[in-house]
Amino acid sequence: MTAPLIDPFARAITYLRVSVTDRCDFRCVYCMSEHMEFLPKKELLTLEELDRLCSAFVEMGVEKLRITGGEPLVRRGILTFFKAMSRHLDSGALKELTLTTNGSQLGKYAAELAACGVRRVNVSLDTLDAEKFARITRWGRLPQVLDGIAAAKAAGLKVKINVVALKGVNEDELFRLTEWCAAEGHDLTFIEVMPMGDLGNEDRLDQYWPLSDLRAALATRYRLTELSDRTGGPARYVRLEETGQRIGFITPLTHNFCESCNRVRLTCTGELYMCLGQEDRADLRAPLRGSDENGDLRTAIRAAITRKPKGHDFDYSRQQVSGQMSRHMSHTGG
Ligand code: GTP
Ligand code: 5AD
Ligand code: SF4
Repeated sequence: MTAPLIDPFARAITYLRVSVTDRCDFRCVYCMSEHMEFLPKKELLTLEELDRLCSAFVEMGVEKLRITGGEPLVRRGILTFFKAMSRHLDSGALKELTLTTNGSQLGKYAAELAACGVRRVNVSLDTLDAEKFARITRWGRLPQVLDGIAAAKAAGLKVKINVVALKGVNEDELFRLTEWCAAEGHDLTFIEVMPMGDLGNEDRLDQYWPLSDLRAALATRYRLTELSDRTGGPARYVRLEETGQRIGFITPLTHNFCESCNRVRLTCTGELYMCLGQEDRADLRAPLRGSDENGDLRTAIRAAITRKPKGHDFDYSRQQVSGQMSRHMSHTGG
């Protein structure tokens, strides 16, 4: 072990999110445009290179690894990578190996993921209405995702459903989604829609449904008790007394949680983003490819962490979106 990664605001960086591909089999309206140009395959880090990079972070104190995309499970051979990372679980260096997925490939991979030591999966699911699902994801099919979620549950994986709160889109399904998660035993987290990607014809401000409003709507039917639970992510949790279920809120806009940020994001080309809501990034591919030793790589990682900003600049106030990011969410994996 080397010295831990501490940023200029005394935050320990213990959580690495790794986007293993920019590709996806869906085209969610708030994440991608319909006609995306993806990176040529030769730009991508190989699975061996991703292994070396992630392992370097683990040696520097990263305890939680979340695999994202695009859709991580569409990357060819990705289970080999999960298998490789499971050695860090076995050694005890890594406390959690997990993924965020659209669920479309879970039917195929859930059992293998569980065998690699994955205990939880976060699945993005904004609606239980097949037609609406097709509209939001453009290319997705709801039954396939529901089958994937069922396969995850059958494989013993704990499922967390991520719902992006979209005004006028899934507002009317608040109770239906909540009841479904309660019945299935899934955790549920709502996320405020962030101003990312091209806003040409989809205005994020029109879709913005503050979670303070969503929460007030929930409170008309349930008694909410604040919980102090932390999963290492930015969500804050409540328990619904009537059902006993736990509900999370990720509120980058209405409540900024940057002060406790513990994470950085690695893209599939080896760029390290120190913040989801900022453009600054560090190239780790050059030091990775420059030498078989990890010395330069470690130096580059430490230098990047010294540039981690205090927080993001997303802001919907004054009825306009400022701090908007032209980068697509799929680039850094949320
Ligand atoms: P757990 O708490 O471990 O379940 O995970 P998590 O909430 O960290 O991960 P998940 O992939 O489910 O994250 C859900 C979404 O929350 C992400 O896709 C982002 O949209 C948002 N999010 C996660 N981390 C950050 C962050 O550091 N900043 C901002 N602005 N949003 C974040
Ligand atoms: N705002 C908020 N959440 C988003 N996600 C994708 N794009 C956005 C956005 N613009 C979510 C997905 C998934 C996670 C990876 O990020 O729904 O749950
Ligand atoms: Fe794919 Fe997830 Fe983006 Fe939807 S939000 S297009 S499922 S990466």
